[in-house]
Amino acid sequence: MNYQVKDITIAKQGQQTLAWARREMPVLNSIEAEFRKNKPFKGITLALCLHVTKETGILALALREGGARVVLCGSNPLSTQDDVAAALAKEDINVFAWRGISHADYYNCLNRTLDFKPHITIDDGADLISLIHSKRTELLKTVWAGQEETTTGVIRLKAMAKDGALKYPVVAINDTPTKHMFDNHYGTGQSTIDGLLRATNILLAGKIVVVAGYGDCGSGIAKRAQGLGARVVVTEVNPLPALKATMDGYKVMPMKEAAKIGDVFLTATGDKDVLVGEHFKLMKDGAILGNSGHFNVEIKVPDLDKLSKSKKIVRANLEEFTLRDGRHMYLIAEGRLMNLAAAEGHPSAVMDMSFAGQALTCEWLVKNYKKLSPEVYDVPQEIDERISKLKLASMGVKIDTLTPDQQKYLSSWQEGT
Ligand SMILES: NC(=O)c1ccc[n+]([C@@H]2O[C@H](COP(=O)([O-])OP(=O)(O)OC[C@H]3O[C@@H](n4cnc5c(N)ncnc54)[C@H](O)[C@@H]3O)[C@@H](O)[C@H]2O)c1
Repeated sequence: MNYQVKDITIAKQGQQTLAWARREMPVLNSIEAEFRKNKPFKGITLALCLHVTKETGILALALREGGARVVLCGSNPLSTQDDVAAALAKEDINVFAWRGISHADYYNCLNRTLDFKPHITIDDGADLISLIHSKRTELLKTVWAGQEETTTGVIRLKAMAKDGALKYPVVAINDTPTKHMFDNHYGTGQSTIDGLLRATNILLAGKIVVVAGYGDCGSGIAKRAQGLGARVVVTEVNPLPALKATMDGYKVMPMKEAAKIGDVFLTATGDKDVLVGEHFKLMKDGAILGNSGHFNVEIKVPDLDKLSKSKKIVRANLEEFTLRDGRHMYLIAEGRLMNLAAAEGHPSAVMDMSFAGQALTCEWLVKNYKKLSPEVYDVPQEIDERISKLKLASMGVKIDTLTPDQQKYLSSWQEGT
């Protein structure tokens, strides 16, 4: 057995945490039962670089039940749930992750994961794939394929494919509707507010909450903040989502204007330098800053440091910056994705769908990788349909079926008024 976790003695707590998640993940449970019977991953090593949460734990166990040797490292220094990591280590999962890991150890854990010579890599942010393509190129001979969980990772991989730099096929789990329409929107929407409240416990009613980026994540955050009574302002760089935000009833304006009026600033763009020095200079005393985008580059913390004379931790996951002009600013979880660092990440019920996509795509890749070239692929549509059907059934929701006459009508052009 091979693992490195913070404290193996908390495994029992982790088992309870996993059991709690499992109750909300019926789709993945049914896939696990099928894997247990068919063993699609017998003799196969799967390397997972994901947020080590209770939901990831359920995915890792499902893959293990399918016969895989599973190796797991974290995809962010602040998102590992240590009790879950300990419980997984006790369950034959090779885990290398702990919360608060240093930069050097983070990469050390990625390398130890790759030492197992995986056949398939499953990333959240493309870190394993980047490492294989840069410092661990010897593995390019043995890796069959990869899977990517998040928007930022998919953007990186598509850029690699465009440059001819991608050397093995990857499936963009993020881009499938049962993932991004639910996980990014409802998951990030709810858990970002959860992170904000756990870190600050402020009353949102009446506050001006500025949401940067109105994509799948930002639109979910705006909706939930508004639901709690916040007055929501959206900033965008793309006219289409900006128009959507306007018609959804939010005020849309450039960040330089929003900076002057906001009480809370939440970024979810996948971009860098969304909040920088020129914005901090305009903000009110007491402004709260948080990020839910994948990397900690959306809020330019070095600029905040330059403007400050001191800083101190005032609550768990909340740092107070005292600026030279006497104003204070509050940064949540070092500007790292706050829904995982200051809360527990997405609720299990929504990860049920994302990780069902990961599990079924992994099975599909084992059967099909030889037919693929080094490109970024979509999740096969039949997998997406299967997940929506299973999820609806688990929720007791029934829908209508097309009659043969309706089917004919919808696929023809002759019939009109
Ligand atoms: N925290 C989580 O658990 C979680 C979950 C899913 C995705 N993500 C991450 O969140 C980020 C956003 O994902 P998404 O799926 O919403 O992407 P998306 O592409 O749907 O939306 C991003 C939006 O941000 C806008 N944008 C880009 N630069 C901007 C800027 N400088 N100012 C204002 N708006 C800007 C874009 O025009 C776009 O509309 C990504 O980094 C993704 O990986 C995080």
